[in-house]
Amino acid sequence: MYSEKLAKAINEQINKEFYSSYLYLAMAAHFDANALPGFARWMKIQAEEEWEHGMKFYEFLNEVGSEVTLEAIACPPKKFGTPKEIFEQVYEHEQMVTKSIENLYALAKQENDPKTELMLHWFINEQIEEEKNDRDILDQLAMAGNNSFGILFLDKHVLGERKGD
Ligand SMILES: [Fe+2]
Ligand SMILES: [Fe+2]
Repeated sequence: MYSEKLAKAINEQINKEFYSSYLYLAMAAHFDANALPGFARWMKIQAEEEWEHGMKFYEFLNEVGSEVTLEAIACPPKKFGTPKEIFEQVYEHEQMVTKSIENLYALAKQENDPKTELMLHWFINEQIEEEKNDRDILDQLAMAGNNSFGILFLDKHVLGERKGD
């Protein structure tokens, strides 16, 4: 019998991953509406990845014989600031998700559940990568500053070049 506490926490994590997907899709829509298609592309790929994260947890619950219960996904913001402000928001959000995964890991240890710990290793690595990507983009946005050419360069040649799966 799979731990009820873990099942509840993983169901909450599924909701957080799907919210992340929705948040990044809202950011993509903002960039699309503001002539930054490269930034929008980056966000759309990120939104897909977050959906896949939610599905990884979904499949895990299914594999261990527990049940997925879906709750409402919160409404993402409708107004956004500058690209720099948006990436600050993304970085803050990812740090919150990292904390949430680390709390799950601590709970898996407390519940003596090595299979859940093992499954979470992938997510712990993924969060290291995501936070690093966000910091790199923030550094590049700082280099561009208020220079429109710098922002357009990042749009076309950096974020717009992100590879999907
Ligand atoms: Fe995620
Ligand atoms: Fe993420």
